[in-house]
Amino acid sequence: CGDGGRIIAQCCCREAVIPCTLQGPATNPEIDLPAAFESRIAHYTRRVEDVLDEVLPAATVEPRRLHDAMRYAVFNGGKRVRPLLVYAAGECLGLRQELLDAPAAAIELIHAFSLVHDDLPAMDDDDIRRGKPTVHRQFDEATAILAADALQPLAFRVLADPRDLPAGTSSRLVRIVADAAGSIGMTGGQSMDLAAEGQSLTADEIEHMYSLKTGALIHASVMCAAALAEDLPEDRASAIDAFGRTIGVAFQIKDDILDVEGETEVIGKQSGADQRLGKATSPGLAGIEAARARCNSLLRSALEQLDDFGDDAESLRWLARFVVERGN
Ligand code: IPE
Ligand code: IPE
Ligand code: MG
Ligand code: MG
Ligand code: MG
Repeated sequence: CGDGGRIIAQCCCREAVIPCTLQGPATNPEIDLPAAFESRIAHYTRRVEDVLDEVLPAATVEPRRLHDAMRYAVFNGGKRVRPLLVYAAGECLGLRQELLDAPAAAIELIHAFSLVHDDLPAMDDDDIRRGKPTVHRQFDEATAILAADALQPLAFRVLADPRDLPAGTSSRLVRIVADAAGSIGMTGGQSMDLAAEGQSLTADEIEHMYSLKTGALIHASVMCAAALAEDLPEDRASAIDAFGRTIGVAFQIKDDILDVEGETEVIGKQSGADQRLGKATSPGLAGIEAARARCNSLLRSALEQLDDFGDDAESLRWLARFVVERGN
């Protein structure tokens, strides 16, 4: 971590510097959490980035432009919220970190692919992501499409190479991530998001779309940890499930609030983009204060799901608060 409210992301071989809000929501009066998870963020980030670095072909390997673009898409300063959720859920369920590396990396690869496509002219047509030119701007459109195309199978390659995962777990993780990425998950939600441009959706329809386009991968992050936990009681599995669903929707509402309120330099992407595209969003429908209230209410119900886990869920609580209080 760097100073001055910035985090250096992350590895000596990658020098991206992004605005950092991962210091966390220290001022929320609702819950007083120890800084323990904060101190582990750099460690978990390094862990997942080491796996990503290992599985992504070097930019010197042919076709070099493609591999360069894939690395650019992955190592340009993301917050790594989904991998952090995998590790935090793993802490909650008493799992060894080694088991979590593959799903953490796989989900981040899917996330990176989704962002590259999301930014394309045919979708949100964005020029800036994480404070830098989007992949199709830095390279070209065809390279961006192909880089995202190649990131997706790489995610499943990581899951198919299970390191020291217990027998049978690999295929379970593949199913969770495939469902979350596909037409009944993120991709389906992205399709709904595009179809909703210029349309008026109800609050429920908007949240359903959010639960797919963004919620699915966030939900999958905690469900991968749940799938790795042996003999997880049904009530605990459904609490983690509900937590993941709830925080996934909150994540997108917060993203939409930041699109309205955030400054481009801080959020690392063009602010006001949703209004420009006529996106159906919670703040667009109900106003910024109602969206904020909904976000806080989702946070409260997500936290309630964790009540029975006691101290084991501290990291998940920290991340849940981060999701709704982050500045980028
Ligand atoms: C942005 O996700 C896209 C959405 C799903 C809202 P993040 O805010 O997690 O993006 P990075 O990876 O930190 O840049
Ligand atoms: C994107 O939602 C969700 C994805 C599945 C990538 P947005 O389109 O609002 O994400 P940003 O604001 O471009 O990051
Ligand atoms: Mg979009
Ligand atoms: Mg977008
Ligand atoms: Mg957005």
